[in-house]
Amino acid sequence: MMAKDEGLNWVLMSRSELETQQLGERLSPFLIPGCVVELNGELGVGKSVFARGVVWGMGVEDPYITSPTFTLMNTYTEGRIPVYHFDFYRLSSPDELGLTGTDEYLDGAGVALVEWAERGGDWIPADRLVVELLHQEENPDLRHIELRAEGPRSREILHGFRQRYPD
Ligand SMILES: Nc1ncnc2c1ncn2[C@@H]1O[C@H](COP(=O)(O)OP(=O)(O)OP(=O)(O)O)[C@@H](O)[C@H]1O
Ligand SMILES: [Mg+2]
Repeated sequence: MMAKDEGLNWVLMSRSELETQQLGERLSPFLIPGCVVELNGELGVGKSVFARGVVWGMGVEDPYITSPTFTLMNTYTEGRIPVYHFDFYRLSSPDELGLTGTDEYLDGAGVALVEWAERGGDWIPADRLVVELLHQEENPDLRHIELRAEGPRSREILHGFRQRYPD
């Protein structure tokens, strides 16, 4: 029997950029203001593709979505709820988030999607939905994707998502 406080996780395979994008798009309706989605995996694995799907899923019309590698954060406010897309790749220290005021978006009126979250240190809340993307050797378009809930709020989100899309 699954313990009540056990973390929920879900492992999937994506066979194309489109499938990864669609996964983000399908998750989108389950996301609520203040929630944080951490996107993990090496360069070029599909973190921004997944983020684009989430933004589309919010109903943002024809969004031009780029990786916020140089800007730290891109915001998309025309959808159901705002999306703050972070990329901490070039963050020199977690303190930079406090100094730039971007920290408040991690617990704001919208959803925060965070690439390279580990560089954000303690600014990343404990309750978050973690998406791990992994390249697969046998095929350049294949990705192993794990969705993992850390904390009760994320668990509820992932639970709802799984129920909607049973394997
Ligand atoms: N199954 C797949 N899912 C996602 N992307 C895929 C897949 N197969 C191939 N790709 C390709 O992998 C690349 C993913 O790029 P993306 O910018 O999303 O990576 P990233 O993880 O955000 O990298 P970075 O850390 O540099 O920001 C795209 O060129 C995309 O076409
Ligand atoms: Mg990216």
